[in-house]
Amino acid sequence: MKVFAYVGTSRGETSNAFKVTQAVIDQMSKDYSGKLESNIYHPENTNIESCDGIINCFGGKACPLEVKDDMVKIKKAMLDADVIIIASPVRMHHVSGSVKTFFDRLAYWAHVFKLTGKIGLSISVSSTNGNEFVDYYLDKLHMYLGIYTVDPLSLPMDVIDADEKAGFILEASEALLNAYQNSYNLKPSQKQELAFQTFKAMYLKQERKTSESRYWIDHGLASFETFQDFRSALLKNNELKRKVNGLY
Ligand SMILES: Cc1cc2nc3c(=O)[nH]c(=O)nc-3n(C[C@H](O)[C@H](O)[C@H](O)COP(=O)(O)O)c2cc1C
Repeated sequence: MKVFAYVGTSRGETSNAFKVTQAVIDQMSKDYSGKLESNIYHPENTNIESCDGIINCFGGKACPLEVKDDMVKIKKAMLDADVIIIASPVRMHHVSGSVKTFFDRLAYWAHVFKLTGKIGLSISVSSTNGNEFVDYYLDKLHMYLGIYTVDPLSLPMDVIDADEKAGFILEASEALLNAYQNSYNLKPSQKQELAFQTFKAMYLKQERKTSESRYWIDHGLASFETFQDFRSALLKNNELKRKVNGLY
């Protein structure tokens, strides 16, 4: 099993979000019988430039920032992973700036359900409050990326004690392992299914006039009745997986 994590805090490995993410992965390693590989990226070990808004990506072209930052490496690692964990400190009741920068650079992927088949976890850490919006926001972006999410790990650090924290970390780790081991049988949420149907109708109507429309047709998404059918096919069909796992 391969686990990709992005932790959006500039406080590196001393940060709460990093420590919680590491604890979830350690727990998974302990409980998983197979081999588990993990990589935790954060702003101290990875350079991600801020989106400059030229929207090359929505035209189906490579982002020029990719020649000067680590986004290609990050995207490849995400495509290669089975489990995606995104962790953010709560900042003014929102995600941190680095998490927002990270997702801005994945905007095109959210139009093409690029990470379908993967299992995800959102982590938010605050002092006392403001986690709900961050949990909602991170889960929503996971949904548009095609990821199946388990319940968010939402920790107000000054309000919970060490035992509660350990219990929540254990629950999150168990939920991820369980979802991974039952991946073929997972049923996408109604919201995710509806998002797929809405996008499919819109992009089919565009008749290949936009890059998203071409992507949906050429990568096979548009030929599936439901997101669940697409997800199941992707997990079983290596040819489809190879096509979808290309960077663009
Ligand atoms: C600019 C800023 C805004 C913050 N906003 C909130 C907030 O809205 N609610 C809260 O409970 N904690 C807030 N915090 C505290 C952090 O969420 C908390 O210290 C968290 O554990 C930091 O995680 P980190 O160590 O991974 O950076 C804020 C901290 C900073 C620096």
